[in-house]
Amino acid sequence: MTGRPLVIAIDGPAAAGKGTLARRLAEHFGLPHLDTGLLYRAVARGMLDRGEDPADAEAAERTARALDAKELDASELARPDLRTPEVDRAASIVAARPAVRAALRAFQRRFPAERGAVMDGRDIGTVIFPEATVKLYVTASPEARAERRWRELTGRGIAVERAEIAAEIAERDTQDQSRPVGRLVKAEGAVTLDTTDLDPEAAFAAALAAVNAHIGAQP
Ligand code: CDP
Repeated sequence: MTGRPLVIAIDGPAAAGKGTLARRLAEHFGLPHLDTGLLYRAVARGMLDRGEDPADAEAAERTARALDAKELDASELARPDLRTPEVDRAASIVAARPAVRAALRAFQRRFPAERGAVMDGRDIGTVIFPEATVKLYVTASPEARAERRWRELTGRGIAVERAEIAAEIAERDTQDQSRPVGRLVKAEGAVTLDTTDLDPEAAFAAALAAVNAHIGAQP
């Protein structure tokens, strides 16, 4: 091992289970965790709060710059209203803007500098931290992802149709894979983890094994 801090980069499509996995890995290794989707969600939330159109490119860039300038204080990313279907849609629109992505890049680059980190998103292993110690590409079938997202939302009392969620996930996949900047692709050297048939415990065990194999640690 070199003296560099441990950085675990986790990328993958919507509702693949990255968040749960990232939190558990962070806890296991005693690392800070950054869910980078929250950055795009916070930009979207701020715009919606002010009655701005998420498709307004200038307003999106301005919001992202303001967020970055505030050093993204934790309370902003801990807001409970960042995970609503309305924010899902708006975040997907603002995340496709190169200027928004550029405004949020420096913060993400700095995040692991001192203590290392587990970071999850779409372009961590490809753009933000290509030198990460370990890269995981976490995926699952569209059906499994739609089912999980539906359960999560209905469990939080948000009334949504299964079919509507499936359609939105499909739309987000298209958006994630087709935008010119920050496109979701498997990073070079990433380990693929398909969680379609894995519960959170089994997914964690598989991820941990992959990380340990990479850093040469004992299981
Ligand atoms: O899992 P889900 O897509 O619902 O949510 P998320 O991971 O919190 O991502 C929210 C939005 O931000 C999505 O539209 C992603 O495409 C986008 N995102 C991104 O563009 N880059 C990242 N590093 C993380 C999220």
